[in-house]
Amino acid sequence: MTIEVIVLAAGRGTRMASSCPKVLHTLGGRSLLDHALNTAQALDPSHIHVVVGPENESLAEAQTRGTLIWHIQKERLGTGHAVELAMCTVHESATVLVLYADMPLVRVDTLRALCAQAQAQDNRVVMLTACLDAADGFGRIIRDKTGAVTGIVEEADATVKQRAIREVNTGILVAPARRLGQWLAGVGNGNQQGERYLTDVVAMAVADEVDVVAHAVADLDESLGVNDKVQLAAAERALQRRQAHQLMQVGLTLRDPARFDLRGQVVFGSDCVIDINVVLEGLVELGERVMIGPNCQVRNARLGDDVVIHSNCVIDGVKVGAGAQIGPFARLRPGTDLAANVRVGNFVEIKKSQIGADTKVNHLAYIGDSDIGDVVNIGAGVITCNYDGVGKRKTVVGDGAFIGSNAQLVAPVTIGAGATIGAGSTIRQDAPSGKLTLTPGRQKTVSRWRRRRDDSQ
Ligand code: UD1
Ligand code: CA
Repeated sequence: MTIEVIVLAAGRGTRMASSCPKVLHTLGGRSLLDHALNTAQALDPSHIHVVVGPENESLAEAQTRGTLIWHIQKERLGTGHAVELAMCTVHESATVLVLYADMPLVRVDTLRALCAQAQAQDNRVVMLTACLDAADGFGRIIRDKTGAVTGIVEEADATVKQRAIREVNTGILVAPARRLGQWLAGVGNGNQQGERYLTDVVAMAVADEVDVVAHAVADLDESLGVNDKVQLAAAERALQRRQAHQLMQVGLTLRDPARFDLRGQVVFGSDCVIDINVVLEGLVELGERVMIGPNCQVRNARLGDDVVIHSNCVIDGVKVGAGAQIGPFARLRPGTDLAANVRVGNFVEIKKSQIGADTKVNHLAYIGDSDIGDVVNIGAGVITCNYDGVGKRKTVVGDGAFIGSNAQLVAPVTIGAGATIGAGSTIRQDAPSGKLTLTPGRQKTVSRWRRRRDDSQ
């Protein structure tokens, strides 16, 4: 029997109090919808049906994932109505798995077990449940005296006694398509919220003497739903805990897993160490023995073996060669490529530049749109003046050059190999190799000058 997944993502998300649709809020750098779709895809179903609201119509058009079938739910009439919309493209003989896009932490393994349990017997409904201390907001599982499930009651419709039940519905459900379609047709909206509840099908299945199984989640984090920003933050922490745990298990040293955030993917060699309050985003690749100091943001970067990033650096779209040392307080911007053993010190900004091996840019410099050779020394306060108000111009510095402190290199300009630029110079024309070039004129001392005195004191 084939599995078809229906992802419900059309809810208004009123409780998020945001102009952004709920399912586009992010967790670990990816939207809730993206989490749900990735989970669905990992199950390798024959089709994935996604129900979104009209404000996400463009999203549906932009999506290129081949197996997705999009449905627009123009009026939000409830989860039952949303599933019914999608059912028109589901094959009658399939087993249907319903996922809620606002439950991003459910594990693929859990869903596999759920589907296997449903398919183990013809005509079986399996729902994912959880036993929670704080069950607020969830539908409660109702059982009869023998302990058999008889239905689900939504919190809004529950009696005080029912509200005391701790066994809840996570929302995830597996059912045979043909029966599900029949039950949905009979679901009305005569409840407190005036909605057509998907959860009503459970009592209908019981009435039809269909076997209903409640499968409890092993890890309670899986049942975390995102309905407001407090829950979004709780889910974010749970995801980060889970990721940190996985990374440590395969050998990444995290000084404090509670103060580490990964919003993307990290691959790493042996003995890498990440200090506290580090945020990794996009794809971050670390060689062996890489150290990242406290309070760094590293995004889409490849750091070679033995690279040390000292505290408080922002690194984005950068390649760093083996043995390089960065920071503290450095900012490396997209298109920067540092060769081996480069040293970038405090308050240095580098953008879209190549820096050769063993070159030092140690203090307070700005290097933009530049090609700097090997073993160059860039003094404190050096600025490449790369922008003329219209376009960006290039600076080239040859191998072994020495740029004195506080020099300005006005691009386009080339400094020859082995050239020395005097401190404080403003270089507007190319400087020849192996020579000292400096501006302006000589230093002078005015001997008859007197400092103005303040006679009032
Ligand atoms: C739902 C369940 C509840 C369960 C809880 C778990 C129902 C009736 N209730 O309640 O038993 O304990 O989830 O988190 O199903 N959606 C649509 N179209 C709609 C309405 C909702 O696509 O018309 C989508 C939402 O985007 C969301 C999901 O369905 O992804 C659940 O909707 P939501 O309004 O959050 O339901 P809950 O009140 O949380
Ligand atoms: Ca919800």
